[in-house]
Amino acid sequence: MVEIFRESDGNIALLKTKIIAIIGYGNQGRAQALNLRDSGLDIIIGNIDDDYKKLAIKDGFPVYEIKEAIIKSDISFLLIPDEVIRSVFREEIQNNLKPNSSLVFASGYTIGFKLISPPQNINIILIAPRMIGVGVRENFLNGQGFFSFVAIEQDYTGNAREILLALAKGIGTLKKGAILLSFKQEAELDLFNEQGFGPAFGRVLLSSIYTLIDAGYPPEAVLIEMYMSNEMAYTYKKMADIGLIKQVDFHSQTSQYGAISRGIRFRKLPLKNKMEQILKEIQDGDFTKEWENKITKLKFKLIKYFATKQKINSIEREVRKNLQLKLYDIYEEEPPTKEEMVKLQSISEELNLFRQYYE
Ligand code: NAI
Repeated sequence: MVEIFRESDGNIALLKTKIIAIIGYGNQGRAQALNLRDSGLDIIIGNIDDDYKKLAIKDGFPVYEIKEAIIKSDISFLLIPDEVIRSVFREEIQNNLKPNSSLVFASGYTIGFKLISPPQNINIILIAPRMIGVGVRENFLNGQGFFSFVAIEQDYTGNAREILLALAKGIGTLKKGAILLSFKQEAELDLFNEQGFGPAFGRVLLSSIYTLIDAGYPPEAVLIEMYMSNEMAYTYKKMADIGLIKQVDFHSQTSQYGAISRGIRFRKLPLKNKMEQILKEIQDGDFTKEWENKITKLKFKLIKYFATKQKINSIEREVRKNLQLKLYDIYEEEPPTKEEMVKLQSISEELNLFRQYYE
């Protein structure tokens, strides 16, 4: 049985004498720092010299260099982008952690896939909100809370669980519920959502859009029908609020009959096999190995360029202009340079597949 922690499981008093450093004052950092401070805890911020630092000072926090904040604290939250955690950890954090202190992550990626190896004499804790930073703050203030996945990788002090629960309560997640997983499971679920569900959903959306546009419907109407109206966002919210199937009641009888009767025609899509394959690559660490490979960063640049050249981008740009909506510069992605293209020669066949797919 999965363990789910709730409000009564956390005792914030346990942390009253502790200094908590929030490293990084971005999406999660700001929200979690404000929530923990409002929960009565002693919060300092560790940040590089940038606009986030200015915001932390404006919000009234004592702000230090990352290294200094780590040295001063009993508990530190590492809330900087996953891409920079490794180098910042190596250079600023690793050698400055106090024995018996706790290091808290908001994503299982770096620990789950063993991309960093912290010292043995600390606790390693995960509190990963299933919520963007703004929502972490809003749902703390309105008292509703938000779901999180939590984990303990290392329990050096013997009371890592109590520390985790007190912090989770202070952040506001226990109001809704925190589910105990491992770091690796949290990372795998996150990656699967991005790599399995996301692209499959995107494909279905695009197929629907192109079917309608090819059939002669005005692109403006098609994009509004398919996503720009926000109607789907409401449907998604209703799925969460009352249930995946129950929300069907909000749609007309005609809509319900049409969806259920036509749904059976999609039963033979090879989705499950592909999903399982994607999940296995994540679980076996093949994805992480691929992403950590140097050439992948270049490959990423090129396939992102292909992706921004998709037909939907020019359609959408035109539609947004006609609907007098703001235009964004995603359409102007830079192509790789000649030298970069030479480096990509070794994977040219694979790249051709991407080019064809996105054409
Ligand atoms: P963010 O992109 O908002 O981080 C900005 C912060 O990182 C700033 O304080 C900035 O000064 C610092 N930073 C950026 N580059 C740096 C560098 N090279 N060296 C030192 N500091 C640097 O990060 P975000 O989105 O809040 O993510 C933080 C953690 O939370 C990540 O592990 C992420 O996976 C996790 N997470 C994020 C969610 C979200 O809503 N964005 C949701 C759940 C978890």
